[in-house]
Amino acid sequence: MTVARVTLITGASSGIGAATARRLASRGEALFLTARGGVDGTKIPALDAVADAARAAGAEVETRIADLATPGQAETVVRAALDRFGRLDRVVSNAGFAVSGTLRETPEEMFDLSLQVIYRAFLDLVRAAEPALTAAPRGRVVNVSSFVVDQVPGGRAFPATAAAKGAADALARTLAVEFAPKGITVNTVAPGFTEKESHGHSALSQTAWDAAAALTPAGRLAKPQDVAAVIAFFLSDEADHVTGQNMRVDGGLSLI
Ligand SMILES: NC(=O)c1ccc[n+]([C@@H]2O[C@H](COP(=O)([O-])OP(=O)(O)OC[C@H]3O[C@@H](n4cnc5c(N)ncnc54)[C@H](OP(=O)(O)O)[C@@H]3O)[C@@H](O)[C@H]2O)c1
Repeated sequence: MTVARVTLITGASSGIGAATARRLASRGEALFLTARGGVDGTKIPALDAVADAARAAGAEVETRIADLATPGQAETVVRAALDRFGRLDRVVSNAGFAVSGTLRETPEEMFDLSLQVIYRAFLDLVRAAEPALTAAPRGRVVNVSSFVVDQVPGGRAFPATAAAKGAADALARTLAVEFAPKGITVNTVAPGFTEKESHGHSALSQTAWDAAAALTPAGRLAKPQDVAAVIAFFLSDEADHVTGQNMRVDGGLSLI
């Protein structure tokens, strides 16, 4: 079957990435879904389950386990998507994690790991995908960022995460200008505190999640589907003239 578009989503095994895959899945769509599979491979079935659900909705789906902490894996993933589908139209750089704590509490290695998985993998993905995105009728890049870049809600800081996400956000803005003449849009979605699936990676205790929901003006955490809806808009044909934007999906958290 000829596919209308090919979308690469990193971190697709749970939460926002999985919700985005489920939202995009339909006949004519091809999805290339990646995740790390957990630190010990135990989360590979979670990615397979998302892929099965997307296939059941009519999409063509390929999965790839790749640890983006390993230099070179982002390029490998893009090559694998191109080998499988022969084209690539849309990249959603979503894989990531958060590290909560003060500067002194944050282990030194988490600064480098955050930069590698969040910022560097985004850079490498986009660099590898650029020729294919340029050839696509509507090239799209979405960078999944976070409220932590410019907020310390309730005094809870995420310095390693903020630095890495902030670097990716700055890169996304400058690439939006560079890529606009090529017909590629580059946008950022910044979730507020967002519900985790049971197999997601949580940086907070249940008490801290309850406090986060209470702190959010909307009175609840974002759902992964709330964030996926905005990602889907940035990926859509309707967003042809929208680039370099950062849309917060945070129930008003950024306004207080
Ligand atoms: N949840 C929130 O409150 C929140 C708030 C703001 C921003 N965000 C951002 O939104 C994005 C998705 O968050 P989420 O809460 O939906 O996450 P999640 O459910 O914990 O899932 C994270 C995904 O990223 C993948 N991943 C983690 N480290 C990786 C690595 N080294 N290499 C490759 N893949 C890796 C995970 O793979 P495996 O599970 O297979 O290991 C998983 O698929 C992240 O970038 C996060 O920083 C989340």
